Amino acid sequence: MEIKITKTTTPSVMPAEDKLGFGKVFTDHMFVMDYEEGKGWFDARIVPFGRISLHPASTVLHYGAEIFEGLKAYRRADGGVQLFRPMENIRRMNNSAERMSLPLLDEQDALEILTKFVQLEERFVPKSFGTSLYLRPFMFGNDESLGVHAVKRATFMLIASPSGSYYAEGINPVKIMIESEDVRTVRGGTGYAKCGGNYAASTRAGERASKKGYSQVLWLDGVERKYIEEVGAMNVMFKIDGEIVTPMLTGSILPGITRKSCIEVLKKMGYTVSERLLSVDELVSALESGKLEEAWGCGTAAVVSPIGKLAYGDKEYVVSGGQIGEVTQKLYDTLTGIQWGKLEDTFGWVYKI
Ligand code: PLP
Ligand code: COI
Repeated sequence: MEIKITKTTTPSVMPAEDKLGFGKVFTDHMFVMDYEEGKGWFDARIVPFGRISLHPASTVLHYGAEIFEGLKAYRRADGGVQLFRPMENIRRMNNSAERMSLPLLDEQDALEILTKFVQLEERFVPKSFGTSLYLRPFMFGNDESLGVHAVKRATFMLIASPSGSYYAEGINPVKIMIESEDVRTVRGGTGYAKCGGNYAASTRAGERASKKGYSQVLWLDGVERKYIEEVGAMNVMFKIDGEIVTPMLTGSILPGITRKSCIEVLKKMGYTVSERLLSVDELVSALESGKLEEAWGCGTAAVVSPIGKLAYGDKEYVVSGGQIGEVTQKLYDTLTGIQWGKLEDTFGWVYKI
């Protein structure tokens, strides 16, 4: 596909690698492409990073027609740059688009956009282990009228942010609170789609948890408030009496690429992995009997995040003695090893730029 490139005349300085946070600074350029019904996608362009102008009636501002993705460009130990399973993000973005009545992307075009953009911004891919260039593709409905219907105009964009290691001081187990009031999504809703509204609706519970000293909530299902779904904005896994359990994808859970990769790695290591319903009662009885051996969240940003404490009602339980568990550590080492090009990729997951 043809991408028109207009380079910035005021290149910025790459920030010091030890000062990088998450999603705070951006590269010099952004990719933009427009869509109109009947015409398809057009005007693919890379332009200097900057503010965008929207009509005050733009669909995204009223009816929340917005989806996004998150993936990283990693600096390999040999100096090259690679992505991790980018086609999985592209396909999930199309599933999100379908759910939100937004236009689909051509898969190969999307891969080319990611590749060309990362090539242009290569100097912003940091070099230290654990750091990366976080890529944020997103799409929004952009009709300039207030009618409620599938959009006829949309915009797709890609921005990128050099980001620091999620664990500047090593992996610290987090404190999590089981949320019994708010729900993230429901079956039949938008849980499996990565749409902005899911995140807006979940921040209230996250803020309440944070005021009580917890870093995130463990979500229960929206119908019965009985089954475990996700933790914060990550998928969740448990080791219970030797079995690795992760909630099955019922439609209200985001099908994480890290989740899928953890399952494949664990199976290859010989563990029994069950994708099934896991009730909060089963989890609490495993906590009380000492059968809950490990718990962790998994997602692109943190890779894996061990859970050291779990609160339910007025009780608080310690998991894995508040330390990172053996399986959690093995997963972290294996996934980060492949992503940063330190370990051989026997799965065929990396995509070199
Ligand atoms: N669940 C939610 C709600 C998320 O936002 C994310 C992050 O993207 C994940 C799970 C993990 O998905 P992935 O591993 O593809 O990053
Ligand atoms: C993840 O990558 O795990 C996330 O949850 C990304 C988040 C910033 C939406």
